[in-house]
Formats: sequence, structure tokens, C-alpha cells
Amino acid sequence: MSVEEFMGDKNQTYDMLLKLVKTRMSVRKFRPDPIPEDTINKILEVARWAMSGANSQPWEFVIVTDPKIKKELRDAYSEYNTDFIFWMEQQREYNLRHPSYQVKNDPHESLRFNKAKANWHQAPAVIVVLGDGRRQWGTVMGAHTFGRDQSHLTDGLANASFLIHLAVASLGLTSEWVSIHVEEPHKRVLGVPDLLKLYLIIPIGYPDVPAHEGVRRPLENIVHRDRYDMSKYMSNEDVIKYLYSLREATVPIHSASRAVTADEKK
Ligand SMILES: Cc1cc2nc3c(=O)[nH]c(=O)nc-3n(C[C@H](O)[C@H](O)[C@H](O)COP(=O)(O)O)c2cc1C
Repeated sequence: MSVEEFMGDKNQTYDMLLKLVKTRMSVRKFRPDPIPEDTINKILEVARWAMSGANSQPWEFVIVTDPKIKKELRDAYSEYNTDFIFWMEQQREYNLRHPSYQVKNDPHESLRFNKAKANWHQAPAVIVVLGDGRRQWGTVMGAHTFGRDQSHLTDGLANASFLIHLAVASLGLTSEWVSIHVEEPHKRVLGVPDLLKLYLIIPIGYPDVPAHEGVRRPLENIVHRDRYDMSKYMSNEDVIKYLYSLREATVPIHSASRAVTADEKK
């Protein structure tokens, strides 16, 4: 069978893919409505086809639907992750901080608010993405010794994670990419062995916010033909300006994704 026959109508496949990536959106407020039982399997069936260095497939997934365990995970997140990123963000100039940490109250009040705010445990299911670095040693070892550190592991995990987000969107559901900076408390909740990495938490469910359009840099700004076009290169100063303008564009979208109330904005 030719590739053309295998793929069917190429235009149609492309249009579907483009529509899927453009309509997928991060959501930070979920309805608790349950999702059909085989949905998670369908999602993970897509994820396991992700690319990884030397096809090492370093991923494993913990599906959490037990409300008590979801709450324990979320409490660990608030207590350790939020605390850490909150104080790290306070080191930055106010307008450059992540939208969540641009709260204008006194720091301790803001921290309390942020710790209480994460509500992704209300999503009917949470997928925790784990990585086994030992499996990833199947990749080209030279890459590790030449400055790549663990990135072949995390690249593979990111690919699998993104496929989860795409598959979720293809099933009419929404998801959130919950970055984990302090892994250990979550590993303790789930009994994950020390040698594994706890890479990401992905809550999944129906959105409790309206659909909104994403923001991306235009194609002409990011594409170079044949050689690098220096007119598109940003100086260090330009990068700062870009980050300010990016925040202006993303703050309202971030708020829309979790339905920030007028009181919270104060
Ligand atoms: C590496 C990475 C880290 C991210 N961390 C978080 C996070 O900790 N919390 C969150 O709510 N979203 C997080 N996101 C989601 C991004 O904020 C989101 O993808 C981006 O703003 C574009 O919005 P969209 O997904 O709605 O298109 C992360 C995404 C990536 C790829």
C-alpha cells in the first residue's frame, strides 16, 4: 500500500490536524462530570505512539480517578510546587511574572490565594506522566556526554504528553499542563519508585470555561528561507520588550482559561 493510500485524502487529514491543534486549548477549570471509562485508554493509546530517542519509550502513566488521591496530589502541589514557584516569581519585575503571580495583594495573602486556587483535582481524571531514565539509555550515549544531559528523556516525555493533549482535544475534552518542579511530594502520594521521574500532571475533563482562541507568533516571524534572516533576530533588549507584549496578550487568555473573578483580579 502506498503512503497516499494509507493516509487517505491528504488534504482532509491535514485540515483535521490543523483544526485540532488550533482548537485545542489549555483549561484550568473543569466540570466534575465523569468521562466515559474507555476514554483514558483511547488517549493513552495515542500517547504510546510518541517519538522518543532510539525508540526507548521511557514513559509510564498513572491514571488517578480516586477523589481522595487527586486531592492529596493537589495538596502536595499547592504546598510544595506553588510555594516554590510563587517565591521564585517574586524575584521578577511585576509585569514579567507569570500571570498567576501578578496578584496585587501582599505576598503572603497572594500565596495563600494561589495555594487555594489550583482546582484541577476536580477534573474527573488526572494522568500523571512518569519517565524511566534507565530506559532512555537506549539512545545515542554520545548525546548525553555532549551537553544534552537528560533532555532525550524529557523530550520523549514531552512528545507523549503533547499527544495526550491532542488526543484529549480530539475527543471533545480539555486538559491542563501542570508543570511539576518539586517531584518528591507527588511521588510519595502515588508510591512512585525513587528512580523514576514524575514529569507532568495532566488533568482531563469537560471545560468549565467558554472556548477561547489561542495566541501564537505569526509564521513569517519564525520562518527563515535558506539562511537565517537577521532582520528577524531579536536583540537582548528586544526579547525583554517581546516578553512584556507577550504578557499583555496572554494574561487575559490565562484568566479566561480559569475564569478569574473580578475579586481575584484585585
Ligand atoms: C513546558 C510547558 C509548561 C507549562 N506549564 C504549565 C503550568 O504549569 N500550568 C498551566 O496551567 N499551564 C502550563 N502550560 C500550558 C501553557 O501555558 C499553554 O500551552 C500556553 O499558554 C498556550 O495556551 P494553549 O495551550 O491554550 O494554546 C505549560 C505548557 C508547556 C508546554
